[in-house]
Amino acid sequence: MKAAKTAKIIAITNQKGGVGKTTASVNLAAGLNKKGMRTLLIDIDSQGNASASFGLAIENEVKTIKDLLVNPQNPHDFISKIDSVEIIPSNNSLKDIEDILLKDRKFDMLKTAIAPLTGQYEYIIIDCPPSINVFTKNGLKASSEIVIPTDVGYFSLLGLKQLLEEIEHFKRELNPSLEILGVLASKYDRRTSLSAQIYETLKQSFPDKLFKTCIHLNIDIVRAQIAQKSIFDYNKRGPAAADFNSLIEEITNA
Ligand SMILES: Nc1ncnc2c1ncn2[C@@H]1O[C@H](COP(=O)(O)OP(=O)(O)O)[C@@H](O)[C@H]1O
Ligand SMILES: [Mg+2]
Repeated sequence: MKAAKTAKIIAITNQKGGVGKTTASVNLAAGLNKKGMRTLLIDIDSQGNASASFGLAIENEVKTIKDLLVNPQNPHDFISKIDSVEIIPSNNSLKDIEDILLKDRKFDMLKTAIAPLTGQYEYIIIDCPPSINVFTKNGLKASSEIVIPTDVGYFSLLGLKQLLEEIEHFKRELNPSLEILGVLASKYDRRTSLSAQIYETLKQSFPDKLFKTCIHLNIDIVRAQIAQKSIFDYNKRGPAAADFNSLIEEITNA
């Protein structure tokens, strides 16, 4: 695989839980890899859902992002290689260092720790936790771009406004070059008109930033997670894989 000079680093973030961050992270990373663009997935959520999506790190059997942040040397040693993706996994142990990182305002630990890796990947995808905590801030500091998944429900519109204000604040304070790559409408339900209405509202609010691709509600996404596979390994010809292929096309052509 051909590696770019420096990876495009994308944080997948939204302070709201259950909006499809982990689903997007896992399937973007797997899909980019399958298309020959070497991609590293970093799980920086203590819930470890991205890791669990590949059967990793619920227990302490592999090295995790916490181990890397505590001992930021040889980041290669913290990467787990599985079928469709290379991942630095996470689990509940990450919480052990939250207070100390916060106390010392250590927002650049991830950026420093992964610096030796950026020449070897075309993309690095960071799956952030569902709050703007010290780990999300580390993810945003390390990234050049953000993808914001949002479900197409009413409360998510309210949450987005707050999120954008926080991102602007973060940019001013800590990473002025951070750009929003796109807002991603996920869990789009074709059966009701509400999803379509909220998508239109999102389009008015983010005319240049809303991805054309929506990730539709699809039971295969849940089944793939249960089978601990990416959607491309679970059902590569299904509509959910088609959604992610389309998203990857938008991202790689951006
Ligand atoms: N497009 C979808 N269709 C069906 N279920 C989905 C879809 N996207 C996410 N889910 C389910 O919704 C839940 C939350 O998704 P997840 O990606 O973990 O969100 P987050 O990381 O933002 O908390 C998971 O149980 C996941 O299986
Ligand atoms: Mg998640």
